[in-house]
Amino acid sequence: MSSHRLLASVLRYVLVPIALLLSCVTPALAQSSPAQLTMIPPRASHIADSVLKLMTLDEKLGQITQSPAGFGQTGPTVDAAGEQQVRKGQLGSFLGLYGVDVTRRMQKIAVEESRLHIPLIFGFDVIHGMRTIFPIPLAIAATWDSTAAVRMARVSATEATAMGLHWTFAPMMDIARDPRWGRIIEGAGEDPYLGSVMAAAQVRGYQGNDLRSPTSLLATAKHFAAYGAAEGGRDYNTVSVSERDLWNIYLPPFHAAVQAGIGSFMASFNEINGTPSHANDWLLTDVLRKQWGFRGMVVSDWTGIWEMIQHGLGDSLTVAERALRAGVDMEMSSTLYRNKLAAEVRAGRFPMALVDTAVHRVLTVKAALGLFDDPYRGSSVQRERSEILTAANRAQARDVAREAIVLLTNTTVGGAPALPLRKDIHSIAVIGPLAADSNSVLGGWHGAGRKEDAVSVLDGLRRALPNADIKYAAGVGLDTVPVEGPVSTPGIAEAEQLARAADVVLLVVGEAEQMTGEAASRSWLGLPGAQHQLAQAVVRAARASNPNKPVIAILVNGRPLAVQWLADSASALVESWHLGVEHGDALADVLFGDVAPSGKLPATFPRVTGQVPIYYNHKNTGRPPIPDVKWNSKYIDAPYTPLFPFGFGLSYTTFDYSNLHVSRSTIRGSESVTVTVDLKNTGSRAGTEVAQLYVRDDVASVTRPVRELRGFRRVALQPGQSQTLTFTLVPEDLAMYDRDMRRVVEPGGFTVWAGGDSNARLEARFTVAGPVVVLAPAPPRFR
Ligand code: NOJ
Repeated sequence: MSSHRLLASVLRYVLVPIALLLSCVTPALAQSSPAQLTMIPPRASHIADSVLKLMTLDEKLGQITQSPAGFGQTGPTVDAAGEQQVRKGQLGSFLGLYGVDVTRRMQKIAVEESRLHIPLIFGFDVIHGMRTIFPIPLAIAATWDSTAAVRMARVSATEATAMGLHWTFAPMMDIARDPRWGRIIEGAGEDPYLGSVMAAAQVRGYQGNDLRSPTSLLATAKHFAAYGAAEGGRDYNTVSVSERDLWNIYLPPFHAAVQAGIGSFMASFNEINGTPSHANDWLLTDVLRKQWGFRGMVVSDWTGIWEMIQHGLGDSLTVAERALRAGVDMEMSSTLYRNKLAAEVRAGRFPMALVDTAVHRVLTVKAALGLFDDPYRGSSVQRERSEILTAANRAQARDVAREAIVLLTNTTVGGAPALPLRKDIHSIAVIGPLAADSNSVLGGWHGAGRKEDAVSVLDGLRRALPNADIKYAAGVGLDTVPVEGPVSTPGIAEAEQLARAADVVLLVVGEAEQMTGEAASRSWLGLPGAQHQLAQAVVRAARASNPNKPVIAILVNGRPLAVQWLADSASALVESWHLGVEHGDALADVLFGDVAPSGKLPATFPRVTGQVPIYYNHKNTGRPPIPDVKWNSKYIDAPYTPLFPFGFGLSYTTFDYSNLHVSRSTIRGSESVTVTVDLKNTGSRAGTEVAQLYVRDDVASVTRPVRELRGFRRVALQPGQSQTLTFTLVPEDLAMYDRDMRRVVEPGGFTVWAGGDSNARLEARFTVAGPVVVLAPAPPRFR
């Protein structure tokens, strides 16, 4: 037996079983924090101990290095140099390497030809689907349905693991109050409460109940932290945020992800308080590990360590040392750990113990995933063939996509609501450059999704109404930069012609896939290119031919848009986001009334870009806006109110809220209170409403938001049916950080509102009496 094989046998047959045995004798530990210990069991840490002892310094530094795969004609590839690095133990992970053939081939080299036979871990951005692409995460948040997030993540995990992956760089949980930031598509929008629910749901969906299951995908909480607060909405930009806003707004979803048992974190590109996250020991160690008890691994963002040279923190050695000291365990894409640290450690200038800590975390996560037992985790060509893009997966995607659609306006045309459309329409004009675009509906970060799998808006309409006369004209192109002034082109003339001739016009406008996502910030939130001029021409032509002709505007986009004119002029306005492979079918289901719309906005829509940042949970200020009075907080050239508020969305029926009651008029700060409200479907169709509960701490020792979401529920009701909804507010729901950053419930009045959006008017009050209740001491102080 060669020494390599001997070592492998020792690992597999001696150390691992010993580790297993040890893991059985620590039941008390296993009970202390169920979610996290299920995910990273003691056994995994014991395996890491045993492997770490056998490693050379170079192997250790290789283990905490992650390389990007290449991309060839048939998909991801690794070149000969990459293979050699695997053989020599110079890599612990690949990024962007998927496909059973290539992942098995690389894993075989790692476990059979490298000295220590340590398996690789394969990571990729599986953000809203691997091959069956679901709605973008912002749209999933618009469902206000945590089970939709779980289902998306579960299908994604099944497909990604069937294609050889172990790890996704998702969920992204950056709160974004500025829709100019293109990456708003990747998160749950502007609210920390909704964001926390969606983050935890995705963790559960990706990781399942047991990380060792062959269909479990390790999840990553990113980008830690406050990346969504980039100044001016410009990607990668500086963040200037107070300690209080960090804890109130930006950190809650990350904490929720830790509590849900997430196994990895990614540092963010931005700085906070003068320190880039990749060097932020306060964030990565004091908060994440010491305060929250996170036990997984932290990966850098792409060249995020190297970029600290540009941030101005020093040379390549300095930034590598700072990152490792801060708690970044694995370096993505750049190779400063591997290339800069060895000499320092050998010369005794950098502690080996810090390298060991990072390596141990990486090995522990690999062991928790079962990679030391089955480095291939059951991946097979057969699974890859049979488990992706299945009819069942597509059905799930369609279901989630229907729930994500938000009806923004629906006027009465000729005595009836413009939507839903009748299925016996004779002719439809489908107009707009996005209507036939099956790539854009996939949205940004669409994994291994393919446009040929996707149903465009036009295809969906044709499938729904095979006998109707459906004509299509793009009208204008998809240019990014807005065009000013009138536009007159043959394309617009053709669109006008179709609009005049058809019974109904569907105007499909918005953003192409590449106008959203990373490095796709926009300075202006109107319709890109000449789409606004197209919309004006089409509405005018349609109405000139018949004042009662419905013109239904459909937004296909990835962020809140400032589309006041469209909202005022179209017969109905539908937000359809980028809904994934089932976009066209799901949209047709809603347009023709097979399903009533039930989505609600997860982010505020401004009237004009200059209102940004505009969000519902703002502070009151000393001079809250009063119309027609000058000296208070508003604009002289635009309203201060949004176009559509957070939480807003209509249905084909109407809902009424009444009898809002708080169970007790006075409670103590350590007690809970129950809020009940009656919800009734007052229209003539069945529908689903997302009932929302907001709370305000009326008077406090520090300023508090005008209201904050503290509960929501999706409720399906038949016409005329009522239901009494019950929400329980626990002390944490009423808590705040006081001036010393203690988590407290202060005595005083609280107001609650229940309704269908963040402007809900039905209110009730209660009082918290007695002393201040301290729920938690101050977290480690910001530095
Ligand atoms: C950079 C992005 O910021 C991050 O979200 C992503 O996971 C990595 N690139 C890898 O693609």
